[in-house]
Amino acid sequence: MGNTVKPLKDTLSFELFGIEFKNPVWTASGCFSYGLEVAENLYDISQLGAVVVKGLSYKPREGNPPQRIVETPCGMLNSIGLQNPGVNYFVNNILPELKKYDTVIVANVFGEDEEEYIKVTQVLDRAEGVHALELNVSCPNVKKGGIAFGSDPDTLYSLVKKIREHTGKPVLVKLSPNVTDILETAAASVEGGADGLVLINTLLGMAIDVEKEEPIIAMKTGGLSGPAILPVAVRMIFQVYEKYGSSVPIIGVGGITTAHDALQHILAGAVAVQIGTANFYDPYSPLKVIKGLEEHIKKKGYSHYLELVGKAHKLKIKMEG
Ligand code: FUM
Repeated sequence: MGNTVKPLKDTLSFELFGIEFKNPVWTASGCFSYGLEVAENLYDISQLGAVVVKGLSYKPREGNPPQRIVETPCGMLNSIGLQNPGVNYFVNNILPELKKYDTVIVANVFGEDEEEYIKVTQVLDRAEGVHALELNVSCPNVKKGGIAFGSDPDTLYSLVKKIREHTGKPVLVKLSPNVTDILETAAASVEGGADGLVLINTLLGMAIDVEKEEPIIAMKTGGLSGPAILPVAVRMIFQVYEKYGSSVPIIGVGGITTAHDALQHILAGAVAVQIGTANFYDPYSPLKVIKGLEEHIKKKGYSHYLELVGKAHKLKIKMEG
C-alpha cells in the first residue's frame, strides 16, 4: 500500500496508499451526506479529491432528539448522534450510485463497541468502490463508542490493531481534540497500525437559551465546528507533524472555508484537507478551495502543492513536549 505520498502530473494531483487523488480537497464526514444530493443538484462531485461519507454503524441509527444544531459565534454546535441507515443499506443502495462518480470514496466507520466497529469494517472491506476507511473514534455526541474509544490511548490502540487485522484497505483514524495531549492518541493510532491520521473532529461545547434558561441542544452538549476551531486544528496538525514528519500522512479538517485556511493546514503538515461546516452555508466551497489552491501554487511559482506540506516547520524551534 505504502503511505508515501507521490506527486502526479497536475499541480494538485497525488498518489497515497496506492490511490490516485485528483486534488487534496475532500469533503468531511457528516457535512456532505453521501454526496448524492450535491451530485444530483449542484455540481459534478468527480471534481473533488474524495468524499468522506457520514459515519456508518452496523444497524441503522435514528440519532439524537432535536434540537440538534445551533449556530454559535464563527461556528456551529451539532449533536446528531450519528444518524445513518446502517452500513448494509449504504453498500446496497447508496454506494452503487456514489461510485458512478470518478472520485475517491472514504467510509467513516462507527461502532458502539469493538465488535460493531469490526462488523462495519468487514462489510466495507468487501465493498467494491470504498477506497479507504476513516475510523470515527471522536464523535462527542454518543453515549457508547465514538470519543469513548478515542480518548483513552490503550483502548484506541487495541481498537485500531483489531481493525487493522480485519481490512486490507487504508485505515485513517479521526482523532478528537477533546484530549489533554493529542500526541498520545496519535501515537496509539500509529502503533495500532493506522495508515494516516485525520485531525481534528469537533470540540465539545454548549450553548444556553437565555429566555428558556436551558441548554439549546437537547443532549445539552454538542461538537463545535466551523471557523472558530481553525487555529486549534492547525496547532494539533503542527504538533503531530513535528513528531512524525511525512512518515504519517495527516488529513487536516477543522474550520476550513477558504484556500487560505486550507493552506494553513497544509503548511502545518496536512497532505490533504477536508471541508466540513462550510458546506452548510456554501456547498461550492470545496470547489472554491481547489481553485484557490491552484492559483496560490501558480502565484508562488511552485510546481506542486506537495512542496508546501509541513513547510511552516522550516525555521521553527521544536515545540516543547
Ligand atoms: O453527532 C454526530 O453525528 C457527530 C459525529 C461526529 O462528530 O463524528
